[in-house]
Amino acid sequence: MAERLVVDVSDLPPGGLREVKIGDRAVLVCNAGGRFHAIESRCPHAAVSLAQGRLEGHVLECPYHGGTLDVRDGSPQSPPIRRPVATFAVRAVEGGIEIDAGAAGGAGGPRCTT
Ligand code: FES
Repeated sequence: MAERLVVDVSDLPPGGLREVKIGDRAVLVCNAGGRFHAIESRCPHAAVSLAQGRLEGHVLECPYHGGTLDVRDGSPQSPPIRRPVATFAVRAVEGGIEIDAGAAGGAGGPRCTT
């Protein structure tokens, strides 16, 4: 199973979100003001996709009940979200960013290096 993926983010504006599949994982690429982060695309509250969420700065609001997460480290910011999501290491490469889905962390785990 592939654990790394290069994603072209040239058309992903600040505040933009894009869900990609890496193996059997749904990963959400987040452009937080020009810094890219990758988190598990599943809300810890009710296990739904975060792809239709709203990103302001580094805070992602879940589209279903409005709980928020910090996309930099996956930490919960407001209820009903109480647990962190996994985060994945990201680095800039030719053609976009490379996400390492084999290097999952949670709050305080691996962070974006771009
Ligand atoms: S499903 Fe995300 S806050 Fe409830």
